[in-house]
Amino acid sequence: MDIIYLDEVNSTNSYAKENFEKFEDRTVIIAAAQTDGHGRYDRKWVDFGEGNLFMSIVLKPEGEFRQTYACLTQYLSVVLYNILENYGLEPSIKWPNDVLVDGKKIAGILCESVLDKNVFKGLVLGIGVNLNAQKSDFSLVKDRKVTSLNVELGREYEDKNLFTEKLLNAFFKHYDNFLNEGFSLIKDDYVKACKFLGKEITVKVFNDKVSGVAKRIGDCGELILLKNNKEIALTMGDIL
Ligand code: BTN
Repeated sequence: MDIIYLDEVNSTNSYAKENFEKFEDRTVIIAAAQTDGHGRYDRKWVDFGEGNLFMSIVLKPEGEFRQTYACLTQYLSVVLYNILENYGLEPSIKWPNDVLVDGKKIAGILCESVLDKNVFKGLVLGIGVNLNAQKSDFSLVKDRKVTSLNVELGREYEDKNLFTEKLLNAFFKHYDNFLNEGFSLIKDDYVKACKFLGKEITVKVFNDKVSGVAKRIGDCGELILLKNNKEIALTMGDIL
């Protein structure tokens, strides 16, 4: 696995997409600083300083786009969930792939497809993990509550290289199985991490909002809401 370290970049995802042809399958890009990190729905990903992780993985599975690839963010969220549990924390996953600790977001995951003249070339799977942040900087994120590993552990410094190594090893350990088996490989673990199930929730889907009881997670990672005794399957959106 090649790992490329950059001092500063606008976004590791953008960099990986722009230079996609040059990179082998499974190349990892890590930046010490990210000036224009972005998330789903064009949200900004705030850089809390160089002790935090900004990473993108270039993935070039063979063949055409498959539905399983849309669940790679959920696979990575489970990988991260397990690592945080090993630190003694009690994380949760907010569908589809936000990883929270104590209800506050500690990591964000963004997967982007790379196409060339409509032909699928591969994926860039990006993740930002707040590892070493100042609590006073959390107010820079306006739309949600955030936290970081050092704050949750009450420790001065969390070793970024060690954390990254754990994350990459765990990700690639079952990556090939995941490509073969898809969401079913992680469904039980994912469901266990979804602590909102059974509760009344509201999901923002583009400019619409849908409320209902979060009934279950479907076989392809979709969220099934129960509204007026009818089941609604959501494949995208954000729980508010
Ligand atoms: C989200 O919460 O909506 C996803 C945030 C993803 C942030 C990471 S940081 C590394 C990579 N580069 C980016 O610009 N975004 C991802």
